[in-house]
Amino acid sequence: MSEKNNGDEPADKDRRNFFKFLGVAAIAAGGIGALRGVLENVSPPITAAFSAFPTLLLYSQSGKPISTNDLIVNNSTIVLFDYPLQNEPNFLLRLGDSNNNDVAIEPTTVTIPATGKTFQSPGGVGPHNSVVASSAICQHLGCIPPIIHFYPPSSSSYPGKVHCNCHGSTYDPYKGFAVVTGPTTHPLPNTVLTYDSAKDQYSVSSLVGPTIYGHSSDLSGGNPLASSSYTEISTLTPTS
Ligand code: FES
Repeated sequence: MSEKNNGDEPADKDRRNFFKFLGVAAIAAGGIGALRGVLENVSPPITAAFSAFPTLLLYSQSGKPISTNDLIVNNSTIVLFDYPLQNEPNFLLRLGDSNNNDVAIEPTTVTIPATGKTFQSPGGVGPHNSVVASSAICQHLGCIPPIIHFYPPSSSSYPGKVHCNCHGSTYDPYKGFAVVTGPTTHPLPNTVLTYDSAKDQYSVSSLVGPTIYGHSSDLSGGNPLASSSYTEISTLTPTS
């Protein structure tokens, strides 16, 4: 004799049986804490996207490696690239003085106010050692461009600084993206660039300093970039 059909769809029946299984497992293992463990075990694990930082060539949107002439000194347009994961924007800046002449950015020791620890900022690369990069995710609460961006030295507000209009944090890109004003207590993570002078091409190879905001590790908690050999430049207009 066939079992009475009570109207459940097969998927509902399967789901009910699944939760019955979880309930039995939880009781057997000792209660709610164990149930949490069971649920964690049936969730897809968040895996590391990379086991090490990839080295990626910086590409223009026209599909060519960028060269020094593609980078404008003190550009008021925001120039970004994702690294080391998708949707992890980084600033790409060619820094200059108030006359828009390249300024060589020296390697420097940067303090992390939150911990008192320091790290070595790599300094600039390129023919004038003026090209630098950093995470573009504010270290206070994670605001992203265009609300956080570089203000050229000629700006009337925040000249020569990266400023976040969410709550007012300011960073100094000429000094390893160190904290100038809070509320942030962490500098922007410095993105390490290399320059091939023979080809006039730029690559990104790692990050130094604090971990990218919102991550326990720079290499996990997101998806790998589409290509394992390059990352593409994008641009945004500042909000103010
Ligand atoms: S998120 Fe940038 S200052 Fe708060």
